[in-house]
Amino acid sequence: MAEAGSFAERVKQQADIVRIVGEYVRLKKAGQNFTGLCPFHQEKTPSFSVHATRQFFHCFGCGKSGDVFKFVMEMDKCTFPEAVRTVAAKCGIAIPQGRERSPEERRENQQRSALVEIHREAAAFFARALNSSQEGKVAQAYLEDRGLDAETIARFGLGYAPSSGDALLRHLKPKYAEKLLESAGLFSRNETGRLFDRFRRRIIFPIANESGKVIAFGGRALGDEHPKYLNSPETPIYTKSGVLYHLDRAKETIRKNDSAVLVEGYMDTIAVARAGVLNVVASCGTSLAEGQIKLLGRFSRRVVVNYDPDAAGQAATERSLVLLLEREFDARVLALPGGSDPDKYIKEQGAENYARHLQGAPSFFEYLIGRARSMPRNSPEEKLAALNFLMPYAQRIPSSLLRSEIATKIASELRVEEPVLREALRRAIAERRSEVKTKPELVRPAVRPVERRLMQMLVEAEGFRGQLASRIRESACHKGLETERIFEALMDATQSRGQLDPAALAESLAERDRQLLFDVLFKPAPEPTWEEAESCLIELECGKMEEKLTELGRRIAALQPGEKGLELQSQFLHLKKELARLKGHPSFADKANPN
Ligand code: UTP
Ligand code: MN
Repeated sequence: MAEAGSFAERVKQQADIVRIVGEYVRLKKAGQNFTGLCPFHQEKTPSFSVHATRQFFHCFGCGKSGDVFKFVMEMDKCTFPEAVRTVAAKCGIAIPQGRERSPEERRENQQRSALVEIHREAAAFFARALNSSQEGKVAQAYLEDRGLDAETIARFGLGYAPSSGDALLRHLKPKYAEKLLESAGLFSRNETGRLFDRFRRRIIFPIANESGKVIAFGGRALGDEHPKYLNSPETPIYTKSGVLYHLDRAKETIRKNDSAVLVEGYMDTIAVARAGVLNVVASCGTSLAEGQIKLLGRFSRRVVVNYDPDAAGQAATERSLVLLLEREFDARVLALPGGSDPDKYIKEQGAENYARHLQGAPSFFEYLIGRARSMPRNSPEEKLAALNFLMPYAQRIPSSLLRSEIATKIASELRVEEPVLREALRRAIAERRSEVKTKPELVRPAVRPVERRLMQMLVEAEGFRGQLASRIRESACHKGLETERIFEALMDATQSRGQLDPAALAESLAERDRQLLFDVLFKPAPEPTWEEAESCLIELECGKMEEKLTELGRRIAALQPGEKGLELQSQFLHLKKELARLKGHPSFADKANPN
């Protein structure tokens, strides 16, 4: 495509495809060449290669290949002449004017450059207004109050939009046509058709594109005015869904660390970056847009989502996770303790504590499991709701290996039968449903063999049924089990009547429990002995203790830095000892080790 002697050929000779592709894809040196994850199809292991000496790329996975221009055309979805210009600009080669563009293209380009220029001037205007006017002093005091020093204000280019109503307009009007100014998104028209400043009496956060050019603004009210943040509308140079705040400064670190931190807002970004975590970007709005994920994915596919821990932030986190998982991101979630957003947390607890929490941020799945654990899961309906909360995520994981691992974890956490869950998951994926249908066998409790055996004994053990019932009551080891109500009914029956009539007893049970009880009773079983009953009891108790230990461990791990949690620690140790003692019990040891 690049004709001999043409401008395109000259650009191609000077451009290094490795460097240009490297701006879009993380490349690793592999012998003479470079490899990375293909940007044109989803993959986990790199099959995309760039040939450094021959200056072309090829993907062994999807088969795409070509030269540097083809690459940019595909990535930027642009025409050949546009790709030539992009590459030239990236290499600092002056672009010959005219000729290569159509008149319309040229007009649009001119408008875009003028808009960028207007934004550059506006940013400078806002910064000056913060530093000079009387009003600016008030704004400065506000920023100072929020802990931002002069260096930070300069570093992030913060400014102030005066309240007068046409200060910016008066500043720009002499230089630019009204039509152009109107398309910048910085002005609105009043009822009489006159333009006035869009941002008034607001702190200004300049929003830059990936290459660091200011293309929009966010403006924060000084007080409680609504909206709290007013942002630029979409313009020919600004598409909300295609911009991440602070990416221009974060991208190098994101690529180097191969990870990004995603926060909600401007102030969060500034606080996190000041805490020394430079690979932070903000989605600036509640959830992440597809375009923003694609953009981020060019730098790294590992991200910690650190949204506000309020209901809106939680919902946004969960919406974002779905999209991130679909794009095979390795996502973790940081929900800061104390209901603080990152800005507030860092202010109150300091950078080190923030860094520590960031380090320990759980994987998306641990986070989701934690959420499911906090949901009520007593009735089958509640259990199904918890399951259906997790399902959309599990389903969206493209890797079947990871999906399978996660199905196992869900099954054990929610105590559902694993094969049934897998089947439901498989079907949901095939039918592209994001919900598991209500299936009785899915929410039927996963009952451990020891529970089944104890139920059998309560019915069958003529000799010691009553004794067993009182032992169970005493230790309360049946509490909280899926089978709790069945145990209660069985124990009531042993106390109230001499002869036990399972059919009569089953009358008082819910359908689901009744089925389970009959299922247990119809299974052939050996003659029960008291020793066996005892070891079953111990096994149940140990199970409960282990659950408690896990819970205590979780609470200890979640302690705030200053908190010692002595009470928790001592409970933990005590329980651990008790568990060890129980496990050493002769009848339990016999059972674990039959010989
Ligand atoms: P928050 O309401 O959490 O604001 O919105 P914040 O970042 O914590 O700001 P402060 O600390 O109260 O000043 C998070 C982000 O959502 C967008 C902004 O990008 C904001 O930073 N937002 C919020 C808006 O665009 N408009 C709004 O009215 C509110
Ligand atoms: Mn916030």
